[in-house]
Amino acid sequence: MPSTAARTRLRLAGALAAVLVASGVATGPAAQAHEGPAHGKPRTTLADLAQRHGRYFGSATDNPELTDTAYTKILGEEFDMITPGNGMKWYATEPQQGVFDWTAGDEIVDLARDHHQKVRAHTLVWHSQLPGWLTGKEWTADELRAVLKNHIQTEVRHYRGKVYAWDVVNEAFNEDGTYRETVFYKTLGPGYIADALRWAHQADPKAKLYLNDYNIEAVGPKSDAYYALAKELKARRVPLDGIGLQAHLALQYGYPTTLEDNLRRFSRLGLDTALTEVDVRMLLPATDEKLAQQADWYRDMTEACLEVRRCVGITVWDYTDKYSWIPAFFPGQGAALPWDEQLAPKPAYQAIREALS
Ligand code: G3I
Repeated sequence: MPSTAARTRLRLAGALAAVLVASGVATGPAAQAHEGPAHGKPRTTLADLAQRHGRYFGSATDNPELTDTAYTKILGEEFDMITPGNGMKWYATEPQQGVFDWTAGDEIVDLARDHHQKVRAHTLVWHSQLPGWLTGKEWTADELRAVLKNHIQTEVRHYRGKVYAWDVVNEAFNEDGTYRETVFYKTLGPGYIADALRWAHQADPKAKLYLNDYNIEAVGPKSDAYYALAKELKARRVPLDGIGLQAHLALQYGYPTTLEDNLRRFSRLGLDTALTEVDVRMLLPATDEKLAQQADWYRDMTEACLEVRRCVGITVWDYTDKYSWIPAFFPGQGAALPWDEQLAPKPAYQAIREALS
């Protein structure tokens, strides 16, 4: 185990190397990472490095970006797991009741298949990005149950055999660990979660089924709620395979230091875990110091996942600041991803490589 000082030196060296790479100066391993077969040298990607640990390294993507060929080149090369950022959500897939549209999701699944990548599918049941026909009406429990079952089973059946995992229910809890009062909870009660998992399992028995949420990286009231629910669902033999920790972090709020313990307690319940939507935002402007701290957080998260056997992989919520959701949602914040807006790797990229190496 290197001393703290040695670790700091290593981190600074890594950060420096990434900056040199970003500015076009060739260095050791990082330079190698960006030299393709045309240069006659072996090229290791984040996916290659993660696979050596039996993990995947993924990225979210979204349909409008797929016309950017410089972007899709890196997306196709560096990652082995892809998540559609919007294309499989309810508003996109069932824009009118009973009328399904697979265009956006299929485009991403096809692209992933062309690059021999797997797909983490996202998401079946969520209170956000619902179609107007669903939110604009009062439903009886029987009606909504039928609508939910049909949506889940039609979508899961469509992608059966084509996706590795599903985020079945997304963001079901409040910060204090109480159930979020969504249309599903209010109309159907908490049993909608077990029902959703069972219906999804019937439609694709091989897909890994997840519950997924943000602010559950640390041990606390919200992750405790997931722990209690997961334990109960397992005891009742409800088909739940994993818990997705989104990991939308922000430098100004501090690092979730209990992440590894938290991952481990879910593993002990016999569940997989995954970091599903990682980004580390900061107050702009980005400075070298903030980018170095961000790199440390990416490294620490990657190491935490590698330390816990059933943490199966990491997905960044898109890989480049060019297409991050952050600036639109948190004005004045950004620079959250391992590649910058020019698609150049940042210190965080090098830090992830080092953690995986
Ligand atoms: O489709 C319309 C388009 O027609 C219109 O021209 C454009 C103008 O703004 O908006 C488009 O819709 C946007 C949609 O993404 C598709 O691009 C919405 O405004 C925008 O709000 C929406 O944001 C998405 C967000 O979920 C919604 O909550 C982000 O792209 C997506 O990355 C984000 O992802 C979520 C995960 O699903 C769950 N966890 C949190 C994560 C971040 O919010």
